[in-house]
Amino acid sequence: MSLKEKKIVVGLTGGIACYKIPYLVRTLTGEGAEVKVIMTAAACKFITPLTLETVSGNPVATELFPENKFISTRHIDLAQWPDLIVVAPATANFMGKTASGISDDLLTTVVCASARPVIIVPAMNPQMWLNPVTQKNYAFLKDIGYHFIDPDEGDTACGDLGVGRMAEPEKIFEFVKAFLEKVSKKKVLTGRKILVTAGPTREEIDPVRYITNRSSGKMGFALAEAARELGAETTLISGPVSLNPPTGVKFIAVETTADLHNAVKREFKKTDCLIMAAAPSDYTPLDKAKEKIKKDKKNIRLTLTGTPDILKDISLLKKKNQLLVGFALETENALSNARKKLKEKNLDLIVINNLRDKGAGFEYDTNKVTLLRPGGKPVALPLLSKKDLSFKLLEILAGLF
Ligand SMILES: Cc1cc2nc3c(=O)[nH]c(=O)nc-3n(C[C@H](O)[C@H](O)[C@H](O)COP(=O)(O)O)c2cc1C
Repeated sequence: MSLKEKKIVVGLTGGIACYKIPYLVRTLTGEGAEVKVIMTAAACKFITPLTLETVSGNPVATELFPENKFISTRHIDLAQWPDLIVVAPATANFMGKTASGISDDLLTTVVCASARPVIIVPAMNPQMWLNPVTQKNYAFLKDIGYHFIDPDEGDTACGDLGVGRMAEPEKIFEFVKAFLEKVSKKKVLTGRKILVTAGPTREEIDPVRYITNRSSGKMGFALAEAARELGAETTLISGPVSLNPPTGVKFIAVETTADLHNAVKREFKKTDCLIMAAAPSDYTPLDKAKEKIKKDKKNIRLTLTGTPDILKDISLLKKKNQLLVGFALETENALSNARKKLKEKNLDLIVINNLRDKGAGFEYDTNKVTLLRPGGKPVALPLLSKKDLSFKLLEILAGLF
């Protein structure tokens, strides 16, 4: 994809890595992007605005309160103009201010005022990077939707070894290109209603203990986010996980398999497609102790009883124009078990995870799956990020409606 007609704001903050940014800007403009540069006062100590003006072909903005009053609202203009903002290098100071909502110069004000995606590319001394305050700001910013290109390990300008070096301009360029490609995806699910389930369930043993499984919810959350990005009206039902619900998605929190069953039955009527990425517990304790079970016995026996088979029940309610997608996680005979599940539960597609593959399944940000349709041949996909896999899966589903 060329970057023609793409508008990018590049923000520089005060670090040695500023010297690598003219090359990045040059590469972006060379691919057709229009680039406007903002520099903090500290960034101007490392490299001159003139250099960036020359490579970007646009005036460089440095002042929040410029002398010329006709450009006095440019913090808003610059916030609304681009498709993407890239802050590189990003100092610990910039991350701290952005995480706290401090907007005391042009760059932090533009970032605060913008609804556009922001990619932050940190660069700093390894101790600064490891500082718990920096790490807290990093985790928080990531959590609320800022994108990061993490620093590399190696020697830094100050001579210290460790993690802190800014990612190389080539890597930033490739990331930006892939990012813009992703966000400019066609909205193939506009007008569709997609219901996704995610995460594990908890089955109470006594008031303090429960049975659960290793599902992190990452696959279902990525699917919900991708469905929203492809234009679908999206509902996400999730068991207890430590992820923040994606914005723009209706979120329903559940705890047990029975809760999940009820919520899915209620929501399924209103949906065009259900993707069951949750890992509900197949068994629940038959008797839930009212008080905490004491530690005074050598052995105790826990009797479990089966929970409702959600997909089986839903398949009985399924109308002709509704799609049903299941996930199968098998430790043996994956393909034959998946074929059986596909048929028994009247699924339109099954996604087979294999726990044996490195980087696949629970807790990872990546997954390696095989797709199977009724009467079709298995299609093995390569190891993909859960988000990229979600786009692939949803684009297939868009074609099935
Ligand atoms: C020579 C020198 C190099 C610096 N390099 C970095 C750096 O790589 N990363 C960083 O976070 N701060 C670095 N600093 C400190 C920042 O420049 C300082 O925190 C400044 O206030 C950042 O302002 P800004 O975030 O508004 O650009 C450096 C300071 C000096 C003097």
